[in-house]
Amino acid sequence: MINELILDFEKIFGDKMGVEAYFAPGRVNLIGEYTDFNGGHVFPCALTFGTYAVARKREDKLVRLYSKNFDQLGIIEFNVDELMNKKEHGWANYPKGVIWAFNQEGFSIEKGFEVLFYGDIPNGAGLSSSASIEVATSVVIKDLFNLDLDMIKMVQISKLAENKFIGVNCGIMDQFAIGMGKENCAVLLDTNTLKYIYSEIDLVDASIVIANTNKRRGLADSKYNERRAECESALKDLQSELNIKSLGELTEEEFEKNKHLIKNNIDAKRAKHAVYENQRTIKAVEALKQNDFETFGLLMNASHVSLRDDFEVTGEELDTLVELSWKQKGVIGSRMTGAGFGGCTVSIVKNDCIDDFIKNVGEAYAEKIGYGASFYVAKIGDGARKLS
Ligand code: GLA
Repeated sequence: MINELILDFEKIFGDKMGVEAYFAPGRVNLIGEYTDFNGGHVFPCALTFGTYAVARKREDKLVRLYSKNFDQLGIIEFNVDELMNKKEHGWANYPKGVIWAFNQEGFSIEKGFEVLFYGDIPNGAGLSSSASIEVATSVVIKDLFNLDLDMIKMVQISKLAENKFIGVNCGIMDQFAIGMGKENCAVLLDTNTLKYIYSEIDLVDASIVIANTNKRRGLADSKYNERRAECESALKDLQSELNIKSLGELTEEEFEKNKHLIKNNIDAKRAKHAVYENQRTIKAVEALKQNDFETFGLLMNASHVSLRDDFEVTGEELDTLVELSWKQKGVIGSRMTGAGFGGCTVSIVKNDCIDDFIKNVGEAYAEKIGYGASFYVAKIGDGARKLS
C-alpha cells in the first residue's frame, strides 16, 4: 500500500525525494453516544482502516494537497498565510483547518508542505473519516516541523480545527479514539477529565460487525449542532438548582428527581439520553470486564432505543438495520454508532453466525430501503502514527 502511494506521490508531485508516510485510523464507538460534549464517558476503538498520508516539507510557503479519494479536484494549493475555509476546497478544508489550529495554539507553521492522502474509510459513514484526516494531518505537521507536542495535544488541535474552522461543534471522542487507540482495545474515556483506560476486547467466539446504511450524511448539515444546543439548554435549566458543570455528573436517580427543572420537553428528552447513556457506558465496561457479554449486548440495544426515541438521531435506515439485526441468531447486541442520521451500525455477532447475519440483514434491508447496506468485520487497530 505505502509503496504504491509513494509512486502516486511521485506521479502527482513530480518526484518522491524525502517523503515520509503516516497513518490515522477511523473509529467505531461501541457505546457512549452523544455523551462526549456532556462530560460523560465514551467507549470507542480505532479501526485498521483509515487515512494514509505521504508528505514532505517545502522551502516556500505553499501547501499542496491531493486526495486519491477526490482526484477530480486535482491538487489544492494555498499559502500558509491564507488559511480560509473555502467551499471549493472541499475535503482540503480539513487539513487546512488543522494548520490553522496549530497556529492558534502557538505553533506557527511558516513553511509549506505537500501531502498525498488516501483513505479507505467509507466517507460520511459515521466512522470518522474527517477526524481521521485531521489527526493524520496533525501527525504529519508535528513530524515535518519537528514540533514538541504529545498525541493528546494533537487530538485537541484536531478537534479545534473541526469546531472552529469546519464549524461542527463535536466533542473529543473521535479525535481521541483515532489518536490514542490501541490494537485489540477499546478506550474508556471520561470526557470530563480526559482520564482514560484501555480495555482489552476479547469477544471469545464473537466479532464486531459494522454495517453501513449507505445513506450519506454530512455532520455540518445534520442536526448535530442543534442536539448540542438542546443539551446545553437542559443543563442550564438544571443549574438553576443543581451545582453541576455537565450532565455527565448526574446519576439516573438524580436526573429523575430534578428533571422538572428543565423547561422544555424536547430538551428534557435529550438530557435524559445523555445521563442514562453515560451510566450505561460505565455499566457496559464493567460487564465486559466480567466477560458478561449478554449484559454488554443488552446495554448496546438500550443505547439504540434511547438514541431513537429520546435523542432522535436514528432515522429509518439505521432503525431498519438495527431492528433486523436484533432478530438474527447469534447477535449479542446492535446499535447505531457515531453521530447517526444515517451512517453505520455496530453489532456483536457470534463468529459462526456472521455469514447468515450479513445475508439475512442485507437482503431484508435492501428490500425495505431500496438499496443495499455494506458490512465489515472490524479489526481494532492502533492509533495514528508515522509509518516510515
Ligand atoms: C460525532 C462527533 C463526536 C460524538 C458523536 C456522537 O462522531 O464527532 O464528538 O459526539 O458524534 O457520540
